[in-house]
Amino acid sequence: MAVGVFDSGLGGLTVLDAVAKRLPDVDFVYYGDNANAPYGVRDADDVLALTRAAVSRLWDEGCDLVILACNTASAAALRRMQEGGLPEGKRVLGVFVPLIEALTERDWGDNSPPREVDVKHVALFATPATVASRAFQRELAFRAIGVDVEAQACGGVVDAIEDGDMILADALVRSHVDALLRKMPEPDAAMLGCTHYPLMEEVFQEALGTKVRVFSQAGLVAESLADYLIRHPNMRGGGAVSKFLTTGDAPKVSNRATAFLRRKIIFEAA
Ligand code: DGL
Repeated sequence: MAVGVFDSGLGGLTVLDAVAKRLPDVDFVYYGDNANAPYGVRDADDVLALTRAAVSRLWDEGCDLVILACNTASAAALRRMQEGGLPEGKRVLGVFVPLIEALTERDWGDNSPPREVDVKHVALFATPATVASRAFQRELAFRAIGVDVEAQACGGVVDAIEDGDMILADALVRSHVDALLRKMPEPDAAMLGCTHYPLMEEVFQEALGTKVRVFSQAGLVAESLADYLIRHPNMRGGGAVSKFLTTGDAPKVSNRATAFLRRKIIFEAA
């Protein structure tokens, strides 16, 4: 039994790690499209085509349920894939909604009309494609009123993390936070709207200051998946083992993943 977890590269491992800890008896197949990362500088059609290919590969592995642990794919592809119709018995879930439900203090599936919430000024950090899609603002508007969102497209951060250049990633995060604070000097909350960014969460928090509450997706997605699987136990899928697939250079990706998760991770060719 396995659930698929997909990202353009290494960022989805932050989600994989949290869901694997939360659901130790569920197997997961991870697919990193490292050969084509970053997605954040691609156009929506391109991201859709790459996401479709990755998701079908995970369906072939017996994963009836696939988590798009990538905001860029969730923003550009999820709605179009769902509207286009999925094969019988297959499901694809994104990572936005758990984050926005946490921000707006809602329980899963609470579809009541939008209402006022505690946070008023929210900083969103995401890839250029996710920011351009305005998908966060759209999902937020379904649930909350009176929230001012300032978005910062964090060019270069995903590339630096994929290259293992954490000094560059650190400098870029600080400069993107500075740019955001010039537009919104006192955010109440910050959303890390890219699954690579939890790897830099301490830097975001330090640069933003302790007064800003930083929301990151991994733990929230894990809770939401646990809840989903209780309601849909048949969606655990038909795969038999946990494994890690990459379109990139498997030994190189394995080394970076091992360093990030601080446990041995071995990728194989997708
Ligand atoms: N982890 C992906 C996300 O959440 C990164 C996208 C990219 O490859 O630029 O958006």
